[in-house]
Amino acid sequence: MKTILIFGCGSIGNHMSFASRKLGYKVYITDINEKAMIRMKNEIFPKRYKKWDNKINLISYNNVFDLNIGFDLIIIGTPPSSHLKIFKICKSKLKFKNILIEKPLTIVENKLLNKNLFKKKKYNIYCGYNHSISKSVNFLLRYISKLSKVKYVQVHWKEGWRGIMGAHFWMKNEFSSYLGNIKEGGGSLHEHSHGLHLLFLILKKFQINLEIEKFKSKILYLKKKSKKYDQFSSFVGNKKNIIFKYETDLISEPAEKNILILSENLRIQLIFNYKKNFDAIIINKNNSQKIRLFKKTRSSEFENELKHIINSKNKVNLKSNLGVDNAISVMKIIKKVIKNAKK
Ligand SMILES: NC(=O)c1ccc[n+]([C@@H]2O[C@H](COP(=O)([O-])OP(=O)(O)OC[C@H]3O[C@@H](n4cnc5c(N)ncnc54)[C@H](O)[C@@H]3O)[C@@H](O)[C@H]2O)c1
Repeated sequence: MKTILIFGCGSIGNHMSFASRKLGYKVYITDINEKAMIRMKNEIFPKRYKKWDNKINLISYNNVFDLNIGFDLIIIGTPPSSHLKIFKICKSKLKFKNILIEKPLTIVENKLLNKNLFKKKKYNIYCGYNHSISKSVNFLLRYISKLSKVKYVQVHWKEGWRGIMGAHFWMKNEFSSYLGNIKEGGGSLHEHSHGLHLLFLILKKFQINLEIEKFKSKILYLKKKSKKYDQFSSFVGNKKNIIFKYETDLISEPAEKNILILSENLRIQLIFNYKKNFDAIIINKNNSQKIRLFKKTRSSEFENELKHIINSKNKVNLKSNLGVDNAISVMKIIKKVIKNAKK
């Protein structure tokens, strides 16, 4: 039986525990805050999935590093500012084959962020950009590899607080956690970095490396006392005659998460959550339109991600979209967007 250890009993910790149990994995989960463990058992999990699952092993943070188990997967599902610190502790104290660090990999200002930290790899390191391995995105990435004369690529990843706070119903508002503080990994660029990861992967297909390309960016911040976050961020650039544009916000209701690509005689759009439990790809070509639907559920998104990692045939899987190198690039892009917006 596959054995998983999860750090963080918050929103993602609950998703991952449920998805892992559905796949029949043995789950251990811990949190630095004892109250968060109790809340998971008594409130979050029963509210989301009807009742607590007794086979989930809640393990106190003080005891977790004494577990003498070779884990198939460790998941770091804690606030972004703690990800790399926990990763370093796991490296020195635990045995594992794969590690999944949630998105974003860290916060822009983290000095630990350099490739050396991820170098010596006896294990695979992934970052939680689960949308980037979904059926709809896989289809899109395959489809666009065949396109010529692409002239426009646009990604929107826009969602207001209502949906996000719904998944954190025990919090008063965004300032109750890292979400409302850019320094702790909150704000639209960090929180919605799924969209940046997708734009990065798409442009890579056209041999454009967003990490090094020039673009103009705009950020609108919201401030409250000592905290602030980017409630709207965007950038636009042009390389190889392809105009690329990214827009993200923490305002849009309903959420708007989509990709648009235009080539000389074709328009292809991926609309996430086109209707309940479906993504859609809409292709317009020669005055005709085709719509292709991709079924999913919230849990299946995480099950898909877990299977992608656990069933990976390579011992060290460098090719996955979820590979840590892509996530490092996303952090560098976030840093550049913030820096450019100051100019
Ligand atoms: N891939 C996705 O779709 C997805 C969805 C939700 C969240 N996330 C990511 O997961 C991470 C956590 O988000 P969340 O919404 O679950 O946050 P959350 O605030 O709901 O939960 C985080 C938990 O981590 C605990 N924690 C903090 N520091 C810790 C430490 N050092 N060791 C152990 N536990 C610690 C906190 O006590 C808290 O219970 C973020 O990076 C977020 O972006 C990803």
